[in-house]
Amino acid sequence: ELNVYRRPSEVSQVTAALRGVGRNLALVPTMGALHAGHRELIRRAKRLPNTIVAVSIFVNPLQFGEGEDFEAYPRSLDHDLETLRELGVELVFLPEVEDLYGRSGVTVTLDPGPLGGELEGEMRPGHFSGMLTVVAKLLNITRPHYAFFGEKDYQQLVLVKRMVEDLNLETRIVGVPTVREDDGLALSSRNAYLSEEDRRGAAALSTALGMGVHAGADGAEAVLDAAHRELAAHPEIEIEYVELRGTDLGPAPVDGDARLLIAAKVGRTRLIDNTPVPLG
Ligand code: PAJ
Repeated sequence: ELNVYRRPSEVSQVTAALRGVGRNLALVPTMGALHAGHRELIRRAKRLPNTIVAVSIFVNPLQFGEGEDFEAYPRSLDHDLETLRELGVELVFLPEVEDLYGRSGVTVTLDPGPLGGELEGEMRPGHFSGMLTVVAKLLNITRPHYAFFGEKDYQQLVLVKRMVEDLNLETRIVGVPTVREDDGLALSSRNAYLSEEDRRGAAALSTALGMGVHAGADGAEAVLDAAHRELAAHPEIEIEYVELRGTDLGPAPVDGDARLLIAAKVGRTRLIDNTPVPLG
């Protein structure tokens, strides 16, 4: 049975009781508008033995910037709850903004450190502070043994792992590979904004990543050249960044495992994607 809780105090009590009787707890934080990417996170969580899966749905105003899509962000609660029922999720945390931030709003927030100002953080000032603040609150409210995050938002995954380490939180963070459409487009709630024409261009992001991976044997410069060449063939794509980094998003290594990350606008829609790249 799907149990829906709105108040942090209620969900804290229930999760504490479940821990008390020896159940493991896995949290899958989301902003709703659930798609096959979210479903994959939940399915992975459900594979853990003796584990209750909790899903949170909360469109977090704190991680949206001025002029971003907080108001327009797709919301599909009834459909989401149906999806969670089908997947056998037992616990949903569905707070309102006031439940998490009070009536006067939040004052203390987390500082993501230098990485919070790079890549996505440079394009979206304040985004990662808002994201980490809400994730810390969700982890403190539910105190899960595991929390699942998608590699689709790779910088988010890296920063959450670092926060857990730096703040000595006890949750184990599990990363899940990106779920894609047949043509390679990474699933995202924001894909709903794409016009039919944009939709065709959007697939080129993952093609560019694939070209980059293919060039990995020839080194970092070849990877970036290959990705740029593919993107340049699509004038409808407006590149924000194409970067090759280490797996921790530090400088790329000379050989071994690296990460290729792209952000671009297709029409009015901002898209991000990334892939592991073996170098050398
Ligand atoms: P949201 O965009 O709803 O994503 C929830 C989780 O689903 C994130 O961990 C995200 O990386 C993962 N996800 C999204 N698309 C995916 C795909 N195609 N394949 C695999 N995983 C995918 O990310 C957020 O919400 C918020 O920032 C949140 C962590 C909930 C904090 O507010």
